Amino acid sequence: MSQEIIIALTKGRILKETLPLFAAAGIEPLEDISQSRKLIFETNQADVRLLVIRGSDVPTYVQYGAADMGVSGKDMLLESAGAGLYEPLDLNIARCQLMTAALKGHSIPQGRVRVATKFVNIARQYFAEQGVQADVIKLYGAMELAPLMNLADLIVDIVDTGNTLKANGMEPLELIAPISSRLVVNKAAMKRKYQRIQQLIDSLRQAVMSRA
Ligand code: PRP
Repeated sequence: MSQEIIIALTKGRILKETLPLFAAAGIEPLEDISQSRKLIFETNQADVRLLVIRGSDVPTYVQYGAADMGVSGKDMLLESAGAGLYEPLDLNIARCQLMTAALKGHSIPQGRVRVATKFVNIARQYFAEQGVQADVIKLYGAMELAPLMNLADLIVDIVDTGNTLKANGMEPLELIAPISSRLVVNKAAMKRKYQRIQQLIDSLRQAVMSRA
């Protein structure tokens, strides 16, 4: 089984959009992933197995070669710096925007700003590029609470419909990056299993193109 291909998928919202795309590319899990607590799934392709893990862990699995390929949000790739991987295909799913946001009508203080986010590397780099001194505070979720509770002046977070910001009295300010899910490939695996990986990339590319 040296030619087995392990693909790490991001669980949650991205998975719901990934599975139909994979099905269109001819890759289908043998059981219903949403009904299972398992983390590894066989597929109709005897040499392909799927891992279902947290989005922030997908780049790590692929970088270290524990998975040959992965589906990862661009936000997670930017945050992890993406060393050791290729990003051959934009899957054009789970599209959203990575933005700064603040309480509605709230003026951003001069001088140092406090920024709450789970994307600490992206935030540090972004504010450094803007010439803004930022104290970046790491949170693991519910970023929208931080300005309300005066933990931070700004947040850096994913905005999709904008409903979460609105519901918490906030508004988006600046776009940092447009986000979508990407197919990533471990560089060493790409060399060792070139033909099969290229086949899978091509099938997925066809599936993406036929939806555009
Ligand atoms: C994301 C993000 C926002 C929300 C934005 O959270 O952190 O809270 O979605 O979506 P909206 O603009 O459509 O309201 P998610 O639900 O993915 O959970 P997370 O906190 O685990 O990231």
